[in-house]
Amino acid sequence: MFHRGRRLRRTAGMRSLVRETEIRPQDLVMPYFAVEGDEGTVKPIGAMPGQNQLGLGALEERVGKAVDNGLLACILFGIPKEKDEVASQAYDDEGIVQQALRRLKASFPDLLLITDVCLCEYTSHGHCGVIEDGCVVNDASVELLARTALSHARAGADIIAPSDMMDGRVLQIRQTLDANGFEEIPIMSYAVKYASAFYGPFREAAESTPKFGDRKAYQMDPGNVREALREGSADIMEGADIIMVKPALPYLDILRLLKDRTAHPLAAYQVSGEYAMIKAAAANGWIDEKAIVMESLTSIKRAGADIIITYFAEDALKELR
Ligand code: PBG
Repeated sequence: MFHRGRRLRRTAGMRSLVRETEIRPQDLVMPYFAVEGDEGTVKPIGAMPGQNQLGLGALEERVGKAVDNGLLACILFGIPKEKDEVASQAYDDEGIVQQALRRLKASFPDLLLITDVCLCEYTSHGHCGVIEDGCVVNDASVELLARTALSHARAGADIIAPSDMMDGRVLQIRQTLDANGFEEIPIMSYAVKYASAFYGPFREAAESTPKFGDRKAYQMDPGNVREALREGSADIMEGADIIMVKPALPYLDILRLLKDRTAHPLAAYQVSGEYAMIKAAAANGWIDEKAIVMESLTSIKRAGADIIITYFAEDALKELR
């Protein structure tokens, strides 16, 4: 006797009966880039075909369509008009993300609004924290990140997602939120964020390329596995409710490891470079875009992600209908 594996693959019905992993619409989080200035702005992002910097009116329109297609959650990034050394626009109550939050909350009360909390889109130098003597200093940056998180919560954020990789920021954000009556607002921490070349297109999208140096002194080394356990457990101890691994596809081993070793919900971010590669190959007719998108999302979920942040969220929702 030998194993007749094909018995269970014979028909679509049979395959779906025994399928182990399936993407659900509510697993997906769509990123949006809100840009200050004209309401109707739709500025295409070169290396991310299909993605745009959106003025508030255009954002509302695009989000509305996605909500109609079943979008449950989005994550917001902001591109301010003015940048400075201390990222003032990040924690300004009239900042672009804060405005976007108020607007989207009013129009789509059931949509979960996640905010990326970082300074790199708001600093003139493009680093994720404040600079002293040519270095990104940790503790002063954490102060500003906590102010940013509080300002987002006040504007209506449902989940705060710090992405800066400064140490102790989850603790400080938790304490600041709690002290101001936001003890019910969860933190989804970019706990395990690698210093990755896969963020290239995003930095064009968010206009956040560092003007000097790189992010290797705060983001993780791609060769490290056990460090992911340290970073994940540190953020959980500091009060993170959900932890994230980023990028997704090149780090599936890390996702699986954290899934097996932690009990917290796990998110994965399929980043801009992953999106750009699929889009570029598809534009050349080299791959079947829809099939690759669903396969890559399934792989990320199979590896352990409960939540997937992906620029393909809108497209995948249409496929899942
Ligand atoms: C902000 C931030 C980045 C991304 C998410 N939040 C860029 C970076 O760290 O350089 C990357 C997202 C993507 O590539 O899609 N720090």
